[in-house]
Amino acid sequence: MTTDHAPAALITGASSGIGRSYAEQLALRGYAPVLVARRADRLAELAEAIHRDTGLEATVLAADLAEEGGLARVEQAVLGHDSLAVVVNAAGLGALGPLTRVEPADLNRLVAVNVLALTRLSRAALLAFGERGSGTLINISSIGAFHAPPDGSAYGASKAYDLHFSRALQRDVEGSGIRVQVVLPGPVRTEFFEASGMDDSVFPQESFVEADAFVRAALTGLDLGELVCIPTLPDTAAWEDSAARQQRLRDAAGLRGVIAERYHRPADG
Ligand SMILES: NC(=O)c1ccc[n+]([C@@H]2O[C@H](COP(=O)([O-])OP(=O)(O)OC[C@H]3O[C@@H](n4cnc5c(N)ncnc54)[C@H](OP(=O)(O)O)[C@@H]3O)[C@@H](O)[C@H]2O)c1
Repeated sequence: MTTDHAPAALITGASSGIGRSYAEQLALRGYAPVLVARRADRLAELAEAIHRDTGLEATVLAADLAEEGGLARVEQAVLGHDSLAVVVNAAGLGALGPLTRVEPADLNRLVAVNVLALTRLSRAALLAFGERGSGTLINISSIGAFHAPPDGSAYGASKAYDLHFSRALQRDVEGSGIRVQVVLPGPVRTEFFEASGMDDSVFPQESFVEADAFVRAALTGLDLGELVCIPTLPDTAAWEDSAARQQRLRDAAGLRGVIAERYHRPADG
């Protein structure tokens, strides 16, 4: 296949783990990848391997998404590309450990990459896709979004943001021809824990899945129309029940305009 006619897929976090696997598997599906991460040497090596395996030209876009300049360059690449069909926001970091032991600079990076970059690149993707009336945005959240993970307070909260933000976008794009999928990994064997200042013994070894198998399942989920995709969840009804319960809670609390009885106290004095 020649790249001239191939639709393109921009993938952040393509130098490692889940993002790298998306780049490889989307190339096998015929998308010419635009590879984004800081480690240019790894991206160049991956671009070569993709060219060898698929004949597609991959573009290397080395950028630090925690820096405004780097993020703006990637944003422009999304907005300026005339055949971009897929954007995958997979770049992320954990800054794990008790909050008081995490360096402020790492917390800045966590919010900048997991929250701000994902938000800005989602916006750019929807603008680019909107002009063509089609496109697929894939945002990587985490099952950490469902609870308050120990030693991952900021991380879990950032991934809850990614989940809720993506679900709100799903409503925004209804009927437009644009798809927004949010994918929630449990433990996946990547460099994530090492890069986040911990080793992967925080989870039992048997709870890990391989990145390639994980991404293959998430892309199958996309083919099946699963817009909230949890590849290790045996039955999607568990997610649907949880979403319905959250909606009922919102309805019960949301629009009453009345303070609940238990807070009524005789006035002081
Ligand atoms: N692995 C898991 O168990 C797990 C579980 C739940 C969710 N997730 C989520 O899955 C996504 C992918 O993580 P992974 O497991 O594949 O981890 P990984 O192997 O550590 O990969 C993280 C990627 O993010 C990129 N990145 C980090 N900081 C960046 C920055 N400032 N600018 C640009 N790129 C940056 C890294 O590239 P450079 O270092 O080259 O910049 C790397 O390519 C993350 O969003 C993570 O939160 C992972």
